[in-house]
Amino acid sequence: MCGIVGYTGKKKAIFVLLEALERLEYRGYDSSGVALLEDGKIFVEKKVGKIRELIRSLWGKQLDATLGIGHTRWATHGGVCELNAHPHTDQEGRFALVHNGIIENYRELKEFITSKGIEYKSETDTEAIVHLISLNYDGDLLRAVLKTIPKLRGAYAFAVFTAFEPGRVVGVRYGSPLVVGLGEGENFLASDIPALIPFTKNIIPLEDGEIADLTPEGVSIYDFEGNPKVKESIKIHWDIISAEKGGFKHFMLKEIFEQPRVVGDTIKGYISRDYELPFSLKEFRRILITACGTSYHAGLIGKYWLEKFVGVPVEVVYASELRYADTPIGPQDLVIAISQSGETADTRFSALSAKEKGAKLLSIVNVMGSALSRESDYTLYTHAGPEIGVAATKTFTCQLAVLFSLAISEHPEREKLMDELLKIPHLMEEVLSKSESIREIALKYTKSKNTLYLGRRLSYPVALEGALKLKEISYVHAEGYPAGEMKHGPIALIDENMPVVVVAPRDRVYEKILSNIEEVLARKGMVISVGFEGDEGLQKLSRDFMEVPKCHEELSPFLTVVPLQLFAYYIADYLGLDVDQPRNLAKTVTVE
Ligand code: AGP
Ligand code: GLU
Repeated sequence: MCGIVGYTGKKKAIFVLLEALERLEYRGYDSSGVALLEDGKIFVEKKVGKIRELIRSLWGKQLDATLGIGHTRWATHGGVCELNAHPHTDQEGRFALVHNGIIENYRELKEFITSKGIEYKSETDTEAIVHLISLNYDGDLLRAVLKTIPKLRGAYAFAVFTAFEPGRVVGVRYGSPLVVGLGEGENFLASDIPALIPFTKNIIPLEDGEIADLTPEGVSIYDFEGNPKVKESIKIHWDIISAEKGGFKHFMLKEIFEQPRVVGDTIKGYISRDYELPFSLKEFRRILITACGTSYHAGLIGKYWLEKFVGVPVEVVYASELRYADTPIGPQDLVIAISQSGETADTRFSALSAKEKGAKLLSIVNVMGSALSRESDYTLYTHAGPEIGVAATKTFTCQLAVLFSLAISEHPEREKLMDELLKIPHLMEEVLSKSESIREIALKYTKSKNTLYLGRRLSYPVALEGALKLKEISYVHAEGYPAGEMKHGPIALIDENMPVVVVAPRDRVYEKILSNIEEVLARKGMVISVGFEGDEGLQKLSRDFMEVPKCHEELSPFLTVVPLQLFAYYIADYLGLDVDQPRNLAKTVTVE
């Protein structure tokens, strides 16, 4: 899940690399490094920790190179130390390489390499690639790369250059993301598009099985057989401002507050029927939703909507589970893969294997040009803009907007339901206008070691999402549970020290959840509820009450999730934790 970047042009490469790496830091941040071609020699600098450690160690160094590569790491093979950080170099230091992914057969490659008397310096899988390229080199970097690729098993994107060919950088994509940025007299490689926003808006997203050969003057694309390919570039419209914090303390907070606007933008994309699918949802015997993490939670909510408004049975399966399951899948199935990044390996590969079995593949994706969007039969985009905080917030509510629009697309009351959906952005603004009172509530719970989140029906996935937010960024153990299941086990956890967050909008299961609250109170649990404004009954039962405006009962998740995002944010911020880049995580998980 590392971030990689490459540059060849006329600027001082170090500035381009460091700026792009800071934008890629969300992908991994245990260590980082750069390699530059300085006066015909490869200069490497690596540091453990955030990119700022690397910047500090480079401070005051005169680096004039106009070619280089950079890396920010999320270790898979080998501990976090300078030796294992990328770039890796060959024995003589004439080749430098950065890699994102896993080389599954690196042990046998390592044996081969050491049998040639070459010292294998690190514990990584990556180092094998650079030695092989160096061994295969006969004066042409592209040829050496083409000769090396068939030896590699696993998923990878890498960028490599050699001191023998100044000006040239080669990038390869197979299972991990890589894009090319086109400039004037300069060209770029990066793991994702936002990393290149400050430099260019002309992007060629590479497909798996493609190689990009960059010089300052041009870019050539090849397949793994070495055949040239003609590729169109796409123009990206995200502006640089939307990838900056805009006065907020953290990206996560900014992204929470952006929700009314981006949910509105996403709904606008689906108001007219222009986007209509080339098939009817009713044609299918079953809809299978697959996703990971927060996107999975959006899928769980989508299930209720699709079953209600379309009437087709829906299953929601974690992508990591679906991939190796024996679920019968065939042409009568529609698979909906949901992914912010469109690069999550588990989601992509489980969706692709369902497609191979004959299912139609529809994806809901935020990043334009991402692998999943290109691999699907049809893609519906969320218009959330770049999401930088590792914890997903605005992309969740935008996924909900797409799922709801999709679920009602063939319903006789579509217009009426669309009008209800159109009210949501304004209602979200109202929730956000009360952020201060949510902060005050959150600050009462900063010492809790555990938190239980309960909800029923649509509020159950909201409870799961609230719990995920808290554990991701605050490192507090939190568990989401269907409120009705509590009596079958988790109720044993409840005592006077257990905060229990209950999501209880006035819907068809409202009375039921009030009884669940009584069960918590009977065991002295501290109830923090999220409910509709003016709900005095709920407020009386709760130690703390976070209110959201009333809305159509099917749409409550758009509103009830917002206080839970803020609740987690304020606790993590109070604890002084790294909200945007929590430990052990990465924004895009491109390894299995
Ligand atoms: C969300 O807060 C998480 N960081 C994570 O669970 C995320 O939702 C998951 O990795 C899926 O990512 P995707 O939507 O890009 O596929
Ligand atoms: N396997 C490489 C390493 O551990 C790259 C990791 C990744 O892309 O997540 O350094």
